[in-house]
Amino acid sequence: MKRGINILRTRSRIELINDTLRAIAGNSCRCPAHSPGLSNSSLSPQHRHVSSSDNISTDYAYEVASSNVRIGRGATREVGKDLVNRGVKRVMLFTDKNLMLQTPFSATEKALRDENIEFDVFSEVRVEPTDYSFKEAIDRAQLGQYEGFVAVGGGSVMDTAKVARLFDMYPEKDFLDFVNQPIGKGEPILRQLKPLICIPTTSGTGSETTGMAIFDLKSMNAKTGFSNRALCPTLAIVDPLNTLSMPKNVAIYSGLDVLCHACESYTAIPYYKRSPVPVNPMLRPAHQGRNPISDIWAVEALKLINKYFLRSVDTIEDEEASAQMSFASVLGGIGFGNAGVHLCHAISYAISGSVRKFCPPGYSPDHPIIPHGLSVIMTAPAVFNEIGYVEPDRCIQLAGLLGARINNIKTEDAGRCLSDHLCKLMNKLDIPNGLSALGFSPEDIPMLVKKTLPQERLTKLSSNPVTPSLLESIIHKSMNVYN
Ligand SMILES: NC(=O)c1ccc[n+]([C@@H]2O[C@H](COP(=O)([O-])OP(=O)(O)OC[C@H]3O[C@@H](n4cnc5c(N)ncnc54)[C@H](O)[C@@H]3O)[C@@H](O)[C@H]2O)c1
Ligand SMILES: [Fe+2]
Repeated sequence: MKRGINILRTRSRIELINDTLRAIAGNSCRCPAHSPGLSNSSLSPQHRHVSSSDNISTDYAYEVASSNVRIGRGATREVGKDLVNRGVKRVMLFTDKNLMLQTPFSATEKALRDENIEFDVFSEVRVEPTDYSFKEAIDRAQLGQYEGFVAVGGGSVMDTAKVARLFDMYPEKDFLDFVNQPIGKGEPILRQLKPLICIPTTSGTGSETTGMAIFDLKSMNAKTGFSNRALCPTLAIVDPLNTLSMPKNVAIYSGLDVLCHACESYTAIPYYKRSPVPVNPMLRPAHQGRNPISDIWAVEALKLINKYFLRSVDTIEDEEASAQMSFASVLGGIGFGNAGVHLCHAISYAISGSVRKFCPPGYSPDHPIIPHGLSVIMTAPAVFNEIGYVEPDRCIQLAGLLGARINNIKTEDAGRCLSDHLCKLMNKLDIPNGLSALGFSPEDIPMLVKKTLPQERLTKLSSNPVTPSLLESIIHKSMNVYN
């Protein structure tokens, strides 16, 4: 025993000496950049040697942006004071027709009244917004001359408020000017926007933390979005009491959205493989590719999902589980808000935009919808099967974080291991069995591929190069997810 310890000590001393010698020989750097045959841009930037004269083609830096986040049971009551603190006396209050009848909205109204904040309610938010519903909100915001904005609702409400707030400062701009390229012009946002406080009522989108706003562009019948750090809300008030009234399907689909945010951001291309390098840091996209910080948020979100997701949907009154899912949504939001998501989301934009008759219980719109989280999870088993070929270690880690047995999983089985585990979870949650259950048939595959290809903000972050045949194969395999 004693001898064993001595051997270890001797070994670590030898390692220390070797390390020191290597450090001296490598001019204090032991990185692989000094090995022959490795190009500078294939290395992580910590290992790159960038000088101002270097002509590097992929990015070397990443940053983290988010709204300020306050989390606390009952914290909705503070929103009036938050507005007073910012000198805001008159706001536009966003919600949807259904939420107007729920406690999160009445708690917000009371908090505003208690501080004598003047407000107009905009409840015409469309569940799964379109460019038309966004424009209606923009028009109302421009008429109202508000000093700030408050959103109480899920992603649909928060995204609508973000865009109304943007155009309140840019009344002269066209709608597509700030929409992501190549669908819109992706112009930078240079003006300071007025305060926006978001109070999420679902635990899913993470929109309360992100600079994104997603909508269905009717001329394309596909979703797209605005994506810019300047759109991050000023403050997110995450009050776990506000999600307790979610119908079961809303809890399930929004939870699956968090799961996909975490799994996709964790397997997105690393930021140092994304190009071009921005000529001005303000042009660095919010969706930069995975990075050491987004990885932390994704992993922590998945730990919570594994522990609390099923509990939170089995017993919606389970306050602890529900609160932890709200927390997971924030973590996942900050992670993907700074890394981006890829194929599940890119294809989901085509799926949701092509809805025909589907309208699940628990959602209360007067139009057919494929809720965001449902459209995203549909292709997840097929997507991660493919990602397994290029990111096997990460797929095995994800499967493990979600509770799969990963002992002795071979590299070549990594994607299948994650994919099978996702299918089991979907089955347990009684998710419709694939795209065919949502009203699609194999004849729709070319149309769905065509609508996915322009989603470059997302497809460029896929670690599998995106080709029409890859998309075709994923969509085909997603027609039926399990037997
Ligand atoms: N901006 C982002 O970062 C981001 C990220 C992911 C998704 N999204 C977008 O968000 C939208 C989806 O948002 P969502 O999943 O949060 O749902 P949602 O806002 O569309 O709401 C879904 C339904 O649930 C109801 N509801 C919400 N909270 C409730 C509560 N506490 N009690 C009772 N009913 C409640 C709503 O009234 C609605 O009928 C999609 O348009 C999607 O594209 C945005
Ligand atoms: Fe999402």
